[in-house]
Amino acid sequence: MENPFSFSGIVDDPAFCNRKKEQADLTRLIKSSQNVLLYSHRRFGKTSLILKVFKQLTGITPIYIDLYGTTSIPDFIRSALTGISAAEPKIKRLMQLVRETITGFSVNFSIDPVTGLPAAVPRLAPGQKAIPVKEVFRLAEAVSTKKKIAIAFDEFQEVARYGGEPFEKQLRKCIQQHRNIAYVFAGSQKHLITDMFNNAKRAFYRQAASFPLEKIAPKAYVKWVANLYRKDNRTIDNGLILQIVHRCDSHPAYIQEFFHHLWDENTVSVAVIDHLERRIIRRRMAEFAYAWDSLTLNQRRALKLIVFTGGKALYAVDNLAAFGFRTPSQATAAVEKLIEREFVVKNGVYQLQDPIFKRWLELSQIFS
Ligand SMILES: Nc1ncnc2c1ncn2[C@@H]1O[C@H](COP(=O)(O)OP(=O)(O)O)[C@@H](O)[C@H]1O
Ligand SMILES: [Mg+2]
Repeated sequence: MENPFSFSGIVDDPAFCNRKKEQADLTRLIKSSQNVLLYSHRRFGKTSLILKVFKQLTGITPIYIDLYGTTSIPDFIRSALTGISAAEPKIKRLMQLVRETITGFSVNFSIDPVTGLPAAVPRLAPGQKAIPVKEVFRLAEAVSTKKKIAIAFDEFQEVARYGGEPFEKQLRKCIQQHRNIAYVFAGSQKHLITDMFNNAKRAFYRQAASFPLEKIAPKAYVKWVANLYRKDNRTIDNGLILQIVHRCDSHPAYIQEFFHHLWDENTVSVAVIDHLERRIIRRRMAEFAYAWDSLTLNQRRALKLIVFTGGKALYAVDNLAAFGFRTPSQATAAVEKLIEREFVVKNGVYQLQDPIFKRWLELSQIFS
């Protein structure tokens, strides 16, 4: 059997583990035309979940719009048209519909060499003002042969960076006008995306039902992995699966990576797991060093403090002094910044968001 684990990009069966309840909940919300705010840290599985649910929708046209990397309103329009084009495989019909709905800017057409699908590409200058974004929604409706549409805006928090209040207001207006479209707003920067929807002063205030995406339960991982080994006529000890899940702190991307490498090993033992862990750390060394270098002195101290104390009793006088803090407020400010930058999360205790980054810190000379 081919290696079923995949740790780059979006996953689908057999690399997709569980999320049965999330799939059912999201489908139900979409079907009842409820807008959804789907959020989690990076690489928790938002995109994979959306696309999995979209693939299974019946009677609803799914449109997936990826806003990752967009830095301007013209970029937003470009991504939106790419997403909408993907819902219309016939270039002739697409051209016709664009002609009927888009008048505020010109559009070129091309065929994607990889997928063979047509794409509508707007011609917009980076600084172009007064772009009629509402026409994009009109196109989406025209393309859909079904009455209902589901549009996902992935990495929606990007909009807040370049759109500003006027664009957010303009978007909200479009969204409210199209009652037959259900929206999924997905985002990874928690404080940015939740502020857009929870702050009474913002345009998207209360425009979507909150849907925080939690980690997959360890026992679901165990069942999934054991089942894949069984299909390959192999066995794997449940305790060892759990150990990997715990080492990865239930992060799906690291778990995939671990099992992807493990699949090619003849034996599964703690020694093998240790070896693979080092390999995963090595692959990320440049990325981790870069992240570390981006921190201020006090933020570095605070990270060490959290790792050293296990996230408890951070502010005890002895602990603060051991890591070079003169006052508790210095440490508090640094920890808050680390939370904002998503290096650290607080679940009762303070924890590093990235378990492998934490492992790198523990193993590296930074701690000796
Ligand atoms: N349901 C799942 N089962 C197993 N692995 C998953 C699942 N969802 C995500 N992953 C893993 O996590 C990685 C990141 O998933 P992705 O959907 O891109 O997350 P996000 O959109 O939240 O950043 C994937 O490449 C995959 O390795
Ligand atoms: Mg994503």
